[in-house]
Amino acid sequence: TDQHLNFQMVDGIPIHIMWNPDSFSSALQYKARPDDIFIDTYPKSGTTWMEVILYSLLNGGKVFDDNMADFFARTPYLDVLGRKGMDNMYRPCTIKTHIPLSRIPYHENAKYICVVRNPKDVSVSFYQFFFNPLEFQGKQKDFDEFVEEFINGNVIYGSYFEHLRAVWQHKNDTNVFLTSYEEMIRDLPSVVRRLADFMNIELTDDLVERIVTYSSFNYMKERFDDTYEKQARIALADESVDAPWPMDKTSLEYIHYMRRVRQGGVGKWRSMMTDEQAERIDKSFAEKFPDMHEVQKLF
Ligand code: PPS
Repeated sequence: TDQHLNFQMVDGIPIHIMWNPDSFSSALQYKARPDDIFIDTYPKSGTTWMEVILYSLLNGGKVFDDNMADFFARTPYLDVLGRKGMDNMYRPCTIKTHIPLSRIPYHENAKYICVVRNPKDVSVSFYQFFFNPLEFQGKQKDFDEFVEEFINGNVIYGSYFEHLRAVWQHKNDTNVFLTSYEEMIRDLPSVVRRLADFMNIELTDDLVERIVTYSSFNYMKERFDDTYEKQARIALADESVDAPWPMDKTSLEYIHYMRRVRQGGVGKWRSMMTDEQAERIDKSFAEKFPDMHEVQKLF
């Protein structure tokens, strides 16, 4: 089965088979700065959405597709770029990472923004993203088999429940901001206000409205992945573009196949998952969290 598990272990964390293990290893060694802002999530929990929101919030309402190269450079992906990759980034930036909070580069003055999402939607989104459309990644995986591996943490970044536990443990730290995908769907303006407060950014009603409009699912669905791919191709073809991110054919292929804005919404797992699979996930969730009802309020 190894062949289609699609991960390699690096310093105790399972990462994508095609990633550079040295870069990832160095990412774990990155020395956090006091002005760093991390977006720390488990994959498929609302990372990209939060990146777009924070980009706007930190850059006076700028829209991500105005200049996607600027967006890349201000939302570096620590796990792939590694420690060195952080040196070239424009600031302010938000550092995207899926490293669990328990292992993340830490500075007491750095900020950690965590987005969590209900495990059933995460598992469906994860499967669709990593296994469904991808021929170049190896064998297509059966969804039922995937659910089992998701529960057991035999997927890249390991167990979602362990991630969630680490976040839960730190949710009241003064440098941690916690929201959920579901809360963002329910009431984005109040999440944006809370974020601005957390980061001491002055907010106008205009800016809130702008952020809500340009981070909406429809706006992002129409533009995010296509613009990303287009601009990445230009950057790759044009050597005079001094891209601060490493862009190669492999990353282009990822961008082409792995659309980060897919379906959106809450509870859509129902169209894919059987009751029995849902029960298996709920049961393992309950086992990991004695205070499950508290955690579940996030979703
Ligand atoms: S990644 O690859 O880990 O960075 O993926 P991530 O961005 O965390 O999660 C992708 C899911 O988020 C949905 N998405 C959105 N939902 C609502 N509104 C907006 N603006 C938005 N942008 C992305 C995306 O569709 C993925 O969820 P699913 O359920 O697969 O549609």
